[in-house]
Amino acid sequence: MQGFNTLISDDVDQAAYWLSKGELVAIPTETVYGLAANALNSLAVRKIFMTKGRPEYDPLIVHTDEIGKIRQWVSSFPEPLMALARAFWPGPLTLLLPKNESVPDLVTAGLPRVGIRIPDHPLTQVLLSRLEFPLAAPSANPFGYVSPTNAHHVSAHFNGMIPMILDGGPCIKGIESTIVGMEGEDLMIYRLGALDRADIESVVGPVQLQPHSTSKPLAPGMLTKHYAPNKQVIVIGNLEEAIPLIKSPKVALITFSQALDQGYRSVWLSTKGDLQEAASKFYAALQQWDHDPAIATIVIERFPDEHIGIALNDKLQRASSKS
Ligand code: TXA
Ligand code: MG
Repeated sequence: MQGFNTLISDDVDQAAYWLSKGELVAIPTETVYGLAANALNSLAVRKIFMTKGRPEYDPLIVHTDEIGKIRQWVSSFPEPLMALARAFWPGPLTLLLPKNESVPDLVTAGLPRVGIRIPDHPLTQVLLSRLEFPLAAPSANPFGYVSPTNAHHVSAHFNGMIPMILDGGPCIKGIESTIVGMEGEDLMIYRLGALDRADIESVVGPVQLQPHSTSKPLAPGMLTKHYAPNKQVIVIGNLEEAIPLIKSPKVALITFSQALDQGYRSVWLSTKGDLQEAASKFYAALQQWDHDPAIATIVIERFPDEHIGIALNDKLQRASSKS
């Protein structure tokens, strides 16, 4: 699917123009870049699935800029989820809400709920405020691959396939939104992400984590293999384990706790030991080594199991899974 001379620019008017014509534009958010289309136009939404090679059983998140607009697309907004919306939007939180007939079934893969999020990025907020429709946008990567955290990552896969990438610089959070919904009276997390479980629980009390399912993925972000580079990925619990592996010139390293001795092909994600900084650089480090023809294996140190480290370890496990 070629045919566009892909523009990479921060021109919001141009982005609005293409989206209004039913074309795709990659947009920056604080989590990862999205591949956006008019969510209320099925023909436009179908282009997302075709371009990403995404199966149609995998529903899309709808992005908007104001809580007040959401009434148009849902049949109700349960109070606990409204409390989360008020506390964390704009931000890295997606809420599953009962949809009404205005949302095309293609967007929700025929499911009764629609995922909605108000992203926290200045350019995309201006864009959303100018449009008369919300934007359906999955992460702007081929299905199953690592999510893009800058405009270059998007163009590496979709150059020539979409008219425009709205360049808003590197993503500050760097991993996807946390997905939350209700089952009866219970609050559920369907995908761990950039918003901490503890922050959610501080507003609404205890929430459960939905067990993974590969046969019927409610959230394919929960698929065992997802967010995966093409190279072999090995996860280690301790940097000592890296020392024999890194002797091979085909092995690269991504670490959190410290750097290994100089000369190794290694990215140290945060010299300050800051998990948030590490998250913002993690996908870029994965893609750096994945695109390096000299490298066959990426060795990654597990993160501490706290705060956003829990979500990072979840992504790590999926990136290293073989099935
Ligand atoms: O941070 C993010 O969430 C980014 C940015 C672009 O907003 N988007 C993103 O989209 O990660 P995507 O499509 O790569 O992952 C969205 C996940 C999918 O696994 C999908 O199955 C789940 O959200 N999801 C979306 N709508 C849903 C629905 N109605 N019911 C259940 N799961 C849903
Ligand atoms: Mg994705």
